[in-house]
Amino acid sequence: RTPLRLGLAGLGTVGASFFSLVERQGGLLAARAGRPIEIVAVSARDRSRDRGLDLGKVRWFDDPAALAADPDIDLFVELMGGAGGAAEASVRAALAAGKPVVTANKALLAAAGLDLARLAEAQGVALGYEAAVAGGIPVIKTLKESLAGNAVSRVYGILNGTCNYILTRMEREQLSFETCLAEAQRLGYAEADPTFDVDGFDTAHKLSILTSIAFGTEIDAGAIYVEGIREITLADIEAADELGYRIKLLGVARRTETGIEQRVHPTMMPKSSPVARTDGVLNAVAIDGDVVGEIVLVGPGAGGNATASSVLADVVDIARGRISPVFATPAADLAPYVSAGMLAH
Ligand code: NDP
Ligand code: HSE
Repeated sequence: RTPLRLGLAGLGTVGASFFSLVERQGGLLAARAGRPIEIVAVSARDRSRDRGLDLGKVRWFDDPAALAADPDIDLFVELMGGAGGAAEASVRAALAAGKPVVTANKALLAAAGLDLARLAEAQGVALGYEAAVAGGIPVIKTLKESLAGNAVSRVYGILNGTCNYILTRMEREQLSFETCLAEAQRLGYAEADPTFDVDGFDTAHKLSILTSIAFGTEIDAGAIYVEGIREITLADIEAADELGYRIKLLGVARRTETGIEQRVHPTMMPKSSPVARTDGVLNAVAIDGDVVGEIVLVGPGAGGNATASSVLADVVDIARGRISPVFATPAADLAPYVSAGMLAH
């Protein structure tokens, strides 16, 4: 059977895990995909860095866009990060060359997702991004497919593993914000620029993607009210605890009579709620559907293997020949985004 040949750009926390897992899970992937899956070419910035990976059998590209358009690859996997720059150029190059793309890059999707969806759908190729929201939790597939028969009224939850890790360790061990952030960086949870995590922008990027799928509207990350966790102190956490609450950084998107409300901010959650009980690097996503009621998905929201697990799922889907609209509703049919404005919270 003809192998599916992957080009992989990015060999950092997620890319290195993905590279190792394609080999380690090779038999399982081939059985599920109906054909072998092989990484045949890679790109990163520093060719000389020892990554603990055997790169001897793969071609090296300094330019990820050249890798993306190379005729000898069937699918481009973008795990570099960043909106614009090399990530956007290479994803566009792959789609323009008629190749499907898998990415974990929520910053790119929040900035250019609508345009990329139009391009992918015009080319008739898949653009997979399960890993871009809530790491290893299959929330994109759940919203797009498993809840396809539901009108969603609200989606909310903990969408950033770094912030939840910081808040959990501050609460449990009375550690400082700075100590916990440094540890989250060491563990590979944080973005290259951790401002995106702690100031709430990463949560906003992910929320904008969920909003588009849940409500069938064009992405508008700029409409989101955003407040991060930088100002949260140990005293705030203790005060919340005494009142029976825990502080969580939530992203909330809700359909209202006047439009869609999207917000990101620290929130006091009753300790009994499943979202409040979500600790450490775990994320929790709650979805209200008119048929099913509320469901809550909980699982690892960041980290190399957890995220690579979602990348693998998209690759297997594409290997099987599955193509679906990027945001559940075809890009041409997405409704214009109408904001309800920022309501009191
Ligand atoms: P890292 O910073 O660990 O790795 C980034 C990789 O991309 C590095 O290998 C780097 O090369 C390479 N790279 C960066 N710029 C270029 C360029 N211009 N040309 C070629 N290669 C380049 O990031 P992560 O692995 O943590 O994240 C990757 C993506 O996954 C991001 O979009 C992130 O938001 C997303 N993500 C990350 C999660 C996590 O838990 N870490 C979870 C979910 C999503 P070099 O190594 O040579 O510097
Ligand atoms: N920095 C992100 C987080 C990675 O901590 O959630 C996963 O998207």
